[in-house]
Amino acid sequence: MTRQLVTSALPYINGIKHLGNLVGSMLPADVYSRYLRQRGHEVLFICATDEHGTPAELAARQAGLPVAEFCARQHRAQRAVYQGFGLSFDYFGRSSSAQNTEITQAFARALAANGFIEERSVRQVYSVADGRFLPDRYIVGTCPYCGYDQARGDQCEQCARVLDPTDLVDPRSAISGSADLEVRETRHLFLLQSLLAGEVEAWLDEHARDWPVLASSIARTWLAEGLRDRAITRDLDWGVPVPADLWLEPAAEGKVFYVWFDAPIEYLGATKEWADAGGGDWESWWRRGEDSVRYTQFMGKDNVPFHAVMFPATQLATREPWRMVDYLKSFNWLNYYGGKFSTSRHRGVFLDVALELLPADYWRYFLMAHAPESDDSDFTWELFRATVNKDLADTLGNLVNRVLSFSRRRFGDQVPYGREPGEPERQLGERIAQLLAEYEAELDALRFRRAARALRALWRAGNTYLEQQAPWLRVRTDPDAAALTLRTAMNLIHLYAVVSEPFVPTTARVMRSAFALTGDTRSWFTAEQARALDSVPAGTAFSVPPVLFAKITDEQLDGYRSRFGGARPAEAD
Ligand code: 2FM
Ligand code: ZN
Repeated sequence: MTRQLVTSALPYINGIKHLGNLVGSMLPADVYSRYLRQRGHEVLFICATDEHGTPAELAARQAGLPVAEFCARQHRAQRAVYQGFGLSFDYFGRSSSAQNTEITQAFARALAANGFIEERSVRQVYSVADGRFLPDRYIVGTCPYCGYDQARGDQCEQCARVLDPTDLVDPRSAISGSADLEVRETRHLFLLQSLLAGEVEAWLDEHARDWPVLASSIARTWLAEGLRDRAITRDLDWGVPVPADLWLEPAAEGKVFYVWFDAPIEYLGATKEWADAGGGDWESWWRRGEDSVRYTQFMGKDNVPFHAVMFPATQLATREPWRMVDYLKSFNWLNYYGGKFSTSRHRGVFLDVALELLPADYWRYFLMAHAPESDDSDFTWELFRATVNKDLADTLGNLVNRVLSFSRRRFGDQVPYGREPGEPERQLGERIAQLLAEYEAELDALRFRRAARALRALWRAGNTYLEQQAPWLRVRTDPDAAALTLRTAMNLIHLYAVVSEPFVPTTARVMRSAFALTGDTRSWFTAEQARALDSVPAGTAFSVPPVLFAKITDEQLDGYRSRFGGARPAEAD
């Protein structure tokens, strides 16, 4: 089996993330990693907090904390929330780790040794009121491309263009709001991306052929606009220090690497953190060699330029055999009633609050079933309720509880035998094997909405079988037939428990533990096993779990809408 390296874009440290952040990278990466593990692959699933740069400094300033302490606290808080969502990272690191510092500095030295770094004197925005330079997010203004008036100095959130602070129209300081800005000289290291454009293009030609259109088209657009040399250092205190030997002239105090330089390197850094904590050999995952490792990245569309062009350019320029991304899975936005989720404006549902409202599996399933894959998608409480009530409560949860409690009432707490399977069971087995193959094909292709649809179809097939066989009625006239149906349905429940785990891991465990199966180590079903539906033999003791999914009531719906603002932004404002 291939070894599978999976990374999720690193969430910024600046605050607890919202549902849109979760569905745009970490959650699908988790579903995929779980699936691969269940299929027998050796998986390394890496994530970390992205702790450098202006977002961290600005948030720490707002919280009134030294930035290092702010980051340590926020890292713990984010880690707890991701645990709550069942994200199965093999390691959740920190981009401020010593390991990342070491690898980032080594990368920069290799780039310099290979002639891809140049020190340049540049003119940069300086805030007189704040007494400092204003890199990246320290400056806000109007995007010259789309007119968004809250564009940041490094990137426009609305049109996803990468910007230079000097591109902004009507710029002002994000610290003080002051528009008293000057342009002053400062020195920075530039990565000579213009020299790498041809190589990156050739690499994309070879490797991006099967990527989702969203990812490859963003990468192409970015390349077509021309790869500009970019400053990879900043006038900040917080970040990976730029080693003194990289500067031509001394006096490079107060310079750190640009956050987007060290953040992707933290994928390697976090793997080394994992290794240093006893995980294994980090280089065997990251150095290209004899062994086969497939590397899949997950991210929102705004991150694509950095991962599809800038980081590959950096990796190529080291002239060292680093593993590069094989498949880049990118997502559009999940909106909230047609508007943006916004951390700064507290619009939408944040992850800590989501977990206070309902268990993780409700969110996991909803988000994956409506993942913004081919287009942006919309979170509304109405859609959330409809999905939970129909798919989770009615289709899956009700089947499990109804079958187990009815069987116990009529036949006791062991799986009944009844009679030999007949034509309906043969047909059911065929259907389940076919739907399972569809589900696998969608997950293999990382098409998560369609995978959720196939999973739903598997659950429905069980409901259809039960409706046709109606054991609740037949038990009076033909108890053996009813017992066969219930035994078959219990086998379906076991199969559902195994194959639904990537989407609803906690519920899957509860379903599975309903059966006192000794040595139940099955991690997936082959087509043959799915057809046979005999993994839970008659005589197996079982228990009836509590209701798996509670329906969301009208009162709850009203409560959510009034608490979180269930209306379009224009109406809400
Ligand atoms: O957009 C973001 O949330 C960034 N923190 C993603 C970084 S991904 C990687 F390169 F580290
Ligand atoms: Zn814009």
